[in-house]
Amino acid sequence: MSRRLRVARARRELDVFLRELRAEGPIGFVPTMGALHEGHLSLVRASVGECARTVASIFVNPTQFGPGEDLAAYPRPWEEDQALLEAEGADVLFLPSAEEIYPAGPRAFIDVADLSGLLCGAFRPGHFRGVATVVWKLLQIVDPDVAYFGSKDAQQAVIVRRMVKDLFGRWTIRVLPTIREKDGLAMSSRNRYLDPSERAAATVLFRALAEGKRVLESGERKAGMAVRAASETLAREPLARPEYVALASLADLRPVEEARGDLLFAIAARVGKARLIDNLALRVGERVEEILP
Ligand code: PAJ
Repeated sequence: MSRRLRVARARRELDVFLRELRAEGPIGFVPTMGALHEGHLSLVRASVGECARTVASIFVNPTQFGPGEDLAAYPRPWEEDQALLEAEGADVLFLPSAEEIYPAGPRAFIDVADLSGLLCGAFRPGHFRGVATVVWKLLQIVDPDVAYFGSKDAQQAVIVRRMVKDLFGRWTIRVLPTIREKDGLAMSSRNRYLDPSERAAATVLFRALAEGKRVLESGERKAGMAVRAASETLAREPLARPEYVALASLADLRPVEEARGDLLFAIAARVGKARLIDNLALRVGERVEEILP
């Protein structure tokens, strides 16, 4: 059953809607940058299922894009997005301008310092500072009971969870599985940048992770062996320009030597104009089990 979706562009407007919604029970919140796909919609569905009311936001956050990144080109099919959110039963879409989120310009920041420079952070200086800052602001503005994030961006999820814990935020952070295309490619708004041959090549990220996981499943516990297997798979795809392959501890995102415990197997590569990422969160003991980050 779809309900009418109300759109708020200003915090003032949103506050009016929120006062009403809060009376009806727990509020779930799904922050996004739009160009919605099944990955985003799986989060909206979870919120609609678990919470009385659901708020989604679409905000292409300038502070998480570096110079030369795709801020201007980022897809903005907001009318389609609105229809998708309405069909899923979301109640409110918060669609703010940059001035609404940064009225004084970007000034005060949140930096989860020890986690932000690792993995993707090493290739995107300032990215996770922008992410943490905007997520904190959005959580303050919406003040939901539960906020939903995808494992697709596992480092982001780990950083958001750490921020909320260390800064005593009162929101529950839920992290849900990565939604993939049939051939394994993790859904991403940036997949829209791929032409057909690049789209075919893009499956190499998932294939590389699967290859690395197979090495661990064979009983190998030297992290370097799993990383090497994944790197070799990635290197065989001429259209992919690798950034990194890493097997890291989920707790602190630092690379491990021995593959044991809760790990994040993470990969990033450029394909055409797109920078793509993927990961598997793994619990490695006697056996290898996929978990949520
Ligand atoms: P965006 O890339 O639009 O993603 C919004 C949410 O959808 C994030 O929690 C992301 O992890 C999740 N998501 C994306 N692709 C997914 C997939 N294939 N399966 C499951 N979940 C998926 O992440 C951001 O926006 C921004 O950094 C944001 C948190 C909104 C802050 O600006």
